[in-house]
Amino acid sequence: MEVVIAPEQELAALAADAIESLLRRRPRTVLGLATGSSPLKVYDELARRHAEEGLSFAEARGFMLDEYVGLAADHPERYRNVIATEIAERVDWPADQVRGPDGLASDLPAACAAYEESIRAAGGVDLQLLGIGTDGHIAFNEPGSSLASRTRIKTLTRQTQVDNARFFDGDVERVPTHCLTQGLGTIMEARHLVLLATGKHKAEAVHQLVEGPVSALWPATVMQLHPHATVLVDEAAASRLQLADYYRQTYASKPDWQGL
Ligand code: GLP
Repeated sequence: MEVVIAPEQELAALAADAIESLLRRRPRTVLGLATGSSPLKVYDELARRHAEEGLSFAEARGFMLDEYVGLAADHPERYRNVIATEIAERVDWPADQVRGPDGLASDLPAACAAYEESIRAAGGVDLQLLGIGTDGHIAFNEPGSSLASRTRIKTLTRQTQVDNARFFDGDVERVPTHCLTQGLGTIMEARHLVLLATGKHKAEAVHQLVEGPVSALWPATVMQLHPHATVLVDEAAASRLQLADYYRQTYASKPDWQGL
């Protein structure tokens, strides 16, 4: 696992570099898309590169990590709409090439199975962007999630509802109680995992993710078992890392050609 500690804007540029290099090499790249505030600066940077430098998503495919259950199709916080607004519609990405689990399906387990199949049919995810919840969840795999789980319905913890209330006018009662989420086993099949975290409130989750024992109590720790995982954090989110100096030293002496 590689840990990079840098200011937020620099982290966003690094993640965008990794995505750009995939898209330039293979326009049909499959990108894994995350919601939440953590990837927003990456999306801004990608939109800028599209507008100013001709970076194209025209042939790319995108798969979202998760979706709330039951939010109306036109609800602005429905993750499908968030991804459309934050990235897909800001670049040349055809809408039908970006998919997410269907939180409005009448048969939710069937929708989850169909989603898994569509990721497989696309050849799997090349690069998966991730954020992390304060309780260590990735996508919506809350503590206690099976480390081998697949796309399925989950109940949000009260903590996640409270954390996400800011997207629902601060009203925790308006945050949905259920979601569909790629499982940890699904996420682990992506070829490169790139997790972004900023702010002091993420410090404990980041410490556990990088340095804690692998455990369903901190679901993100499963990433320690991934052969190509990158953790991009600012100083505040890195503030509890035991080996921070070593990560700094390693990154500072990394050859330029290596990339993430
Ligand atoms: C939500 C999303 C996750 C995200 C997490 C952290 O629960 N389902 O994918 O990583 O929140 O969000 P933020 O980046 O806003 O801190």
